[in-house]
Amino acid sequence: MEKKVSIGIIGCGAVARFHVESVLAAENAILAGVADVRQESAVALAAEYGTRAYASVEQMLGDPSVDAVSICTPSGFHASCALAALEAGKHILVEKPLAVTVEDCDRIIASAKEKGLTAGVISQFRFNASVRHLREMVKEGRLGKIITGELLMKYYRSQAYYDSSSWRGTWALDGGSMMNQGIHGVDAMLYLLGPAESVSGYMDTMTHKMEAEDTAVCAVKFKSGAMIVIQSTTSAYKGAPRHISIVGTQGSVVITEDTIEKCDVEGYEWEPVTEENGAKNLGHQNPMSISCEGHKFQLRDFAEAILEGREPAVPLIESRRAVALIQGAYESARTGKAVKLD
Ligand SMILES: NC(=O)c1ccc[n+]([C@@H]2O[C@H](COP(=O)([O-])OP(=O)(O)OC[C@H]3O[C@@H](n4cnc5c(N)ncnc54)[C@H](O)[C@@H]3O)[C@@H](O)[C@H]2O)c1
Repeated sequence: MEKKVSIGIIGCGAVARFHVESVLAAENAILAGVADVRQESAVALAAEYGTRAYASVEQMLGDPSVDAVSICTPSGFHASCALAALEAGKHILVEKPLAVTVEDCDRIIASAKEKGLTAGVISQFRFNASVRHLREMVKEGRLGKIITGELLMKYYRSQAYYDSSSWRGTWALDGGSMMNQGIHGVDAMLYLLGPAESVSGYMDTMTHKMEAEDTAVCAVKFKSGAMIVIQSTTSAYKGAPRHISIVGTQGSVVITEDTIEKCDVEGYEWEPVTEENGAKNLGHQNPMSISCEGHKFQLRDFAEAILEGREPAVPLIESRRAVALIQGAYESARTGKAVKLD
């Protein structure tokens, strides 16, 4: 029988279900069980899916039958969980963002490298059919030289959402609209346009009672010379589908949420590109109204990467780039100065 990777889930809140269902759907993985600092959360999730609730995270990490763990804790705890898992010899798949500071990202990256373990990050939007298609177009040079672009994320999150858990909206454990919600779009822009060189931003907490920002805008200059604008908020009435536009010397493309809805390229026949399975994202209104397809793809790929001894589809360094850009935007907003990105 083909070897299957045994995966445990750490953190049994909202997103953990996506991981459980993705492991159960993967032919190359088996679900070892779930663990949470709140044992009752682990017991409840385990009962729902007929799997094992470990008594503690330490017990899961000490179980030699567990090959890998998926880390679904609040973002500010990703680093401590990832480092403990790597120390215990487990491969890791970490939810976005890899960590809320570049320094923590670097600690995780260094440890994974030192231990020689497979390590990846969930960043599912880049596997959306529209983003994949646009990336091919950019790579093939169909848009010519990329001049500018925009990423607009006018989302809505209620005060109840931020009040639902003490980590939400805090600088130490979450970050604001750009670090939590916006990071999917930021990752897509980096995936499409390559490394960023500098960022200049503004931010404010305009409508919520929370520590971090609920509204941010920034301008980003890429190493390629392209300059884009990014807007993110969780204060927009009803929210609006995520909007991406990329403008080049020979064409421009617009993605609205999951669909390429405009493609203006000389001599290029096109049809709207969207998810083949019709999976729809309404993440701009509700954090859990998102498709599970990206998670399923990434969990299967993670298990395959372990079995084949290769890098997973989104290695840790990719999330570090997005965290660095967002941390840079925050720093720029605080200091009033543009921030260079390394
Ligand atoms: N990829 C996506 O689209 C997506 C969607 C939602 C959330 N997320 C990410 O997933 C993570 C979790 O978000 P959520 O909405 O599920 O949060 P949540 O608050 O619903 O769940 C977090 C769970 O982790 C547990 N926990 C806290 N500290 C822990 C620790 N040190 N060890 C073990 N368990 C611990 C909590 O008890 C809770 O059950 C965040 O980083 C978030 O950014 C990603």
